Amino acid sequence: MKNKISFKDVVKTYPMKDATFTALDHVSLDIADQEFVTVVGPSGCGKSTLLSMAAGLVGPTAGEVLVDDAPVTGPGPDRGVIFQQYALFPWLTVRKNVEFGLRLAAIPAEERRRRAERAIELVGLADFADALPRTLSGGMKQRCAIARAYAVNPQVLLMDEPFGALDALTRVQLQDQLLHTWSQERRTVMFITHDVDEAVYLARRVVVMAARPGRIQTIVDVDLPYPRTEEMRLSPEFGAIRNDVWHSVYHQPPATPAA
Ligand SMILES: Nc1ncnc2c1ncn2[C@@H]1O[C@H](COP(=O)(O)OP(=O)(O)O)[C@@H](O)[C@H]1O
Ligand SMILES: [Mg+2]
Repeated sequence: MKNKISFKDVVKTYPMKDATFTALDHVSLDIADQEFVTVVGPSGCGKSTLLSMAAGLVGPTAGEVLVDDAPVTGPGPDRGVIFQQYALFPWLTVRKNVEFGLRLAAIPAEERRRRAERAIELVGLADFADALPRTLSGGMKQRCAIARAYAVNPQVLLMDEPFGALDALTRVQLQDQLLHTWSQERRTVMFITHDVDEAVYLARRVVVMAARPGRIQTIVDVDLPYPRTEEMRLSPEFGAIRNDVWHSVYHQPPATPAA
């Protein structure tokens, strides 16, 4: 299958007072069209930096980041980005928040309404379309932020610990919602999480990163069929894969010293 996102020998360094800090050290990764990939790794290993490069918010120091085989030069409507901290306009209803991006894109009112309606339905917020953000729970606000990204209909979803601040139950509900939507709309998803269970439950492949310098430690295939179910989550097969990922994240050998 064709590659949707490609990181080709990507290096990212930041100048420090006395030295150069290497945030990403020769990272290469191909994400196939319509693939769901999760990225896990210790804090500071460069997960957000990698995702920001695909989003076009940060450029590589060396190497290339390609989307649809073309170098990324900046953000674009083909890529929706969802961060942990949902930023909703507090004076706008759920519907108006979701329509906001479409308004910016100069989509006509009727089409805007139709697309917003559909996105709101997809994330299960139909009964709250006219509510203001302050009346919503954290999980519902995050659903709203997700609906806003969906409404623009991006081919790629870049999600940086989007469920990190939510309670366990809401998290599981949103995971199922996301997988359900993904199975209907077939987007390419790059999803960062620090939750190993979440990483395995969602992905076809889990990319495990290591820190100092930030690099890919290993990639674990999740050979479980979709749709994923709660029974699967409790199966020995799931447990074995989770243990494999857990081990790769928490028992990382030290980096080989640079020559
Ligand atoms: N603008 C910056 N200037 C200097 N260092 C940075 C900058 N952005 C990120 N870093 C450093 O790069 C490393 C990777 O950061 P990040 O991608 O946010 O990691 P993660 O998301 O895996 O926790 C961290 O050590 C961080 O401090
Ligand atoms: Mg991060």
